[in-house]
Amino acid sequence: MTKEIFIIANWKMNPQTLKDAERLFAAVEKIAENSENIKVVICMPSVYLGLLSASAQGGIAFGSQNCSWEQRGPYTGEVSPAMLKSVNCDYVILGHSERKAIFAENEEIINKKLKAALAAGLTPILCIGEKEDEKEQMKGVLENQLTGCLRDIKVGQISKIIFVYEPVWAISTSGGEFCSPDYAFGAGLLMRKFIIDHYGKYTGNKAKIIYGGSVDAKEKNAVLYIKEAKMDGVLVGAASLKAEEFGKIIRSVSEISN
Ligand code: PGA
Repeated sequence: MTKEIFIIANWKMNPQTLKDAERLFAAVEKIAENSENIKVVICMPSVYLGLLSASAQGGIAFGSQNCSWEQRGPYTGEVSPAMLKSVNCDYVILGHSERKAIFAENEEIINKKLKAALAAGLTPILCIGEKEDEKEQMKGVLENQLTGCLRDIKVGQISKIIFVYEPVWAISTSGGEFCSPDYAFGAGLLMRKFIIDHYGKYTGNKAKIIYGGSVDAKEKNAVLYIKEAKMDGVLVGAASLKAEEFGKIIRSVSEISN
């Protein structure tokens, strides 16, 4: 296998101190040293980004978990894509279900952020997924989210986006409902078909689609999402906060990608 696989950590609002963040980062950096064909990205609270990236060895890429749709100006409390770029942050998670549910983000806002992120040269990690009570209408929900988020996005910009199929009902379930690789495969196909229908076969077939939602080191589930669900990688929340567990995920994926 020669294509690049993404293992993306979403630390969410963790760890609690800069010291803990430095410790966790250093441990992951060591583990990621020999992971060829794998791109490890850590999306951390923006307050840690500049500090950690300044002393990083270069094997891990930095990502934010949010950004403003503006690049500068009177937007108290916001962080712009251009600012992120200036501290060696190259990725940004957009459209995460927690931002939708808790911070009232909708597709219109996500679309504006997506355009601003692309304009600043960031790679958006765009989360798409249905809620528990939307399972029956999964196809329509994914299509609506993609339609809203990608409004006015040009064909040439699609290759710069990492799409995430992240079913909301499978996030942080810690032993609860598990999204089977089969189910994820079906959703990934629907997303790819949407991209093919709107942007053409060439672009659609090359689009990067990864899986997120309770990925952990147990039963090598990251490997299953990559091998059986044909995903281009995984987005990892809770399990990325434990270096040992995150390391196991990286190592298990390394084994199949070399
Ligand atoms: P989880 O989080 O791995 O803890 O389910 C994933 C996410 O919310 O991105």
